[in-house]
Amino acid sequence: MKRLKEFRQTCRSAFLTVLFVSTLQGANSKLLISSVSPDVVKDLAGNNVTLAVSFTGASNPTLTWFRDGLPVVTWTINSVSPPDIDPNSKDVLHVEKNGSLTFIKVPVNYSSNYRVEMTKSGLGTDSHQFTLQIFEMIQSVTLNTPPIRAKEGIDQFTLQYSMLRGVIEQQTWFFNSKVLKNSSHYLVQETSLVILGLNRNDTGLYSVRLTNPFSNVTAQKEVIVFYGPDEPILKATPEKSFYVAGDSVSLSCQSEGTPQLTVEWIFNGQILSMDSNGVLDLKNVQTNQGGVYTCSLLNPMTNEKREKNVTLNIYERPPGSPVCSVLSVNNDSLLYECDWMGGTPPASLSFPALSSAITGEGNLSLTFPASTNLNGKTVTCQADHPIQQNTCNITARNPKVFLPEVRATVDVDSKIVVSILCVSEASPQAVVSWSNDSGAIANGTAYQISSDTTELKIRDNSISNLILQNFTCTCRNPLGSQTRRIQLQGPSISDSRVFPNQDGTIITLTWEVPPTSVVTGFDIQMKGANLIIKKGNTSQAKITLDGYHTIQQKPASARSTDVFTLDPKQTYLFRIIPKARLADGVPSVVHRIGPPDGLSGPAIAGIAAGIPCSILAIILVGGLIFLIIYLKRNRSHQTKYPVPRTTEKAIPPAKINHPEIIPHKPLAGGLKFFPDYNSLHQSLSDRSVALPAFVPPPPHVRVATTV
Ligand SMILES: *[C@@H]1O[C@H](CO)[C@@H](O)[C@H](O)[C@H]1NC(C)=O
Ligand SMILES: *[C@@H]1O[C@H](CO)[C@@H](O)[C@H](O)[C@H]1NC(C)=O
Ligand SMILES: *[C@@H]1O[C@H](CO)[C@@H](O)[C@H](O)[C@H]1NC(C)=O
Ligand SMILES: *[C@@H]1O[C@H](CO)[C@@H](O)[C@H](O)[C@H]1NC(C)=O
Ligand SMILES: *[C@@H]1O[C@H](CO)[C@@H](O)[C@H](O)[C@H]1NC(C)=O
Ligand SMILES: *[C@@H]1O[C@H](CO)[C@@H](O)[C@H](O)[C@H]1NC(C)=O
Ligand SMILES: *[C@@H]1O[C@H](CO)[C@@H](O)[C@H](O)[C@H]1NC(C)=O
Repeated sequence: MKRLKEFRQTCRSAFLTVLFVSTLQGANSKLLISSVSPDVVKDLAGNNVTLAVSFTGASNPTLTWFRDGLPVVTWTINSVSPPDIDPNSKDVLHVEKNGSLTFIKVPVNYSSNYRVEMTKSGLGTDSHQFTLQIFEMIQSVTLNTPPIRAKEGIDQFTLQYSMLRGVIEQQTWFFNSKVLKNSSHYLVQETSLVILGLNRNDTGLYSVRLTNPFSNVTAQKEVIVFYGPDEPILKATPEKSFYVAGDSVSLSCQSEGTPQLTVEWIFNGQILSMDSNGVLDLKNVQTNQGGVYTCSLLNPMTNEKREKNVTLNIYERPPGSPVCSVLSVNNDSLLYECDWMGGTPPASLSFPALSSAITGEGNLSLTFPASTNLNGKTVTCQADHPIQQNTCNITARNPKVFLPEVRATVDVDSKIVVSILCVSEASPQAVVSWSNDSGAIANGTAYQISSDTTELKIRDNSISNLILQNFTCTCRNPLGSQTRRIQLQGPSISDSRVFPNQDGTIITLTWEVPPTSVVTGFDIQMKGANLIIKKGNTSQAKITLDGYHTIQQKPASARSTDVFTLDPKQTYLFRIIPKARLADGVPSVVHRIGPPDGLSGPAIAGIAAGIPCSILAIILVGGLIFLIIYLKRNRSHQTKYPVPRTTEKAIPPAKINHPEIIPHKPLAGGLKFFPDYNSLHQSLSDRSVALPAFVPPPPHVRVATTV
């Protein structure tokens, strides 16, 4: 009965089971695993961690846990035999009765993929996958740079972190708190950051943040990228294309670089001192300070060097002004010269009117054949200097019409020295050639020609030798010539006057001398009442044979004199004796002063002769007055060559060594080759020809008073 009951019961349960199975068949008749833990389990090393599962659909299935595909635990749930556990993991792995896998004090290296598989014969198999991540606390992280200089331009610069322990789930790199990602400039690697093509902008604070679910640590590192010197910028203050000697200028040299760059200023190989900012102050510059200044920069860390030059132009104008001149070359060409020497740089000179192509520095010479179109042409020399532009002008001219001049002196040997001057205004200066009747005159002892050739000196004891000679001077330059002929005359007076003062106690004598007359001095002579000689220092009165006293002696340059202390009631006669050394020339006309003479016998006779005679005389006197006025008017147009007036008497032969000088032969007006002084020197006509300053003979050779 009991067995039947049992059987029934069994049948019923079998039925129910069949019913259950049949109702669930196809829907839930399989072994199923469901996970209790999350698919990814994260935990700290040392904890007990369980990968928890549950299953349905079968009882006591066979269980296998795989780690990375390798079975590490197999067991049939609820079996009396213990689970088969990988011997290497016996201390760690533990299987729960419900199939879960527990890791006892899980070590870090158990992070892995785990899979659980359950099998029940007839009911199938199922599996589930877990990932176990075991972490450690991150500790002692440092960020390191390689032991090379962070120098701009390095291809790769690596920042690497290291730590004592820790399992990193994520690393994040920052540069100045900006997140860095893989790019053309950065490479984020497992434990490092690589900077590609390091440059100065990479200077800054780098940090890496390391995280796992249980901790996070940040480490940072300051990186300084060394660079420079960059291309320096040189500046001169004030900025000018050139400086003038005496100016002040400062030079600065600016360049980027890290660390602080060393700056040096070098000039002519010498290091100059400067201020701390690298500014070179030059005060009161001189031209020798002009040139190339080099700024030399050094990066003391990288030893990179760089130089840059600046050129300082320091100029100084040439002293004075340009000087133009024209010279004669071989007497047929003209050498135009322009000089403005000195200065820095030298002035550039040109004669644009002569040649646009040729220039000179400081001095310029151009030679041209003399031609008439150069005569009188003003040529400008253009002198260009950076500081100043200047010009000078020069005009070449042929020799001008001129008057020869004659001077006479007495030398130490008591010889008469006659100088003839032929100075013709000309440019280039005219060269004078001299000749006399017997041909060209050479420089020597008898005839001396001054070094500039304009003066001929003739020495002789005797005036008579001198006045026999005719001289010719020719002034010549490449543009032409002028010739003059000079016939020397003996001492003579061309004109003389007397001017008494109001009360008749003083007279002034004036006189003139023909231009070619050789005169070395004058004797002033008087006849009449004795003079009260106050100024006795002049000379003692000497008395000539004809009763004249020499009251004064005057040098060749004198043309007037005063005679003092005359008695207005007395009658005086004055005359001037021109002298050539000891020889007297023809005396001047006699000047009479004093009260009128009483009527002479002949005059009385004339009156007696009758009125008609008087009328005739009046007409004659009138005609004479007219003639005098006429002559006076025309005086300025007349030749100044003297027409010696009647002298009182011939000079006594005893006094004259060479009587042939008298009578003095007046010059014929028709001699064309003699210069017409009047037409050349109109303004001088009133006082004849102005002779150049007379150089009186030294006192000790002054003409002595003769007996
Ligand atoms: C982990 O399990 C072991 C063995 O069952 C036990 O001795 C230990 O105390 C557990 N540790 C923790 C932290 O629960
Ligand atoms: C399985 O057993 C373990 C240990 O006894 C327990 O911690 C876990 O909660 C159980 N899992 C389920 C689904 O009952
Ligand atoms: C960056 O690129 C490198 C090389 O291409 C690669 O190895 C690395 O994993 C990348 N890092 C990130 C964070 O993508
Ligand atoms: C700078 O000037 C110096 C001296 O004149 C010369 O030797 C050097 O080559 C120059 N340097 C540069 C960069 O021009
Ligand atoms: C030279 O002549 C020019 C023109 O004829 C004139 O402008 C200039 O001032 C002159 N120069 C001198 C130094 O006389
Ligand atoms: C002539 O000679 C004198 C003295 O010997 C000399 O000083 C002078 O320069 C000379 N003149 C010429 C034109 O050579
Ligand atoms: C000087 O010239 C004049 C006038 O031509 C002439 O009469 C005289 O003979 C000349 N003298 C000599 C020394 O040739």
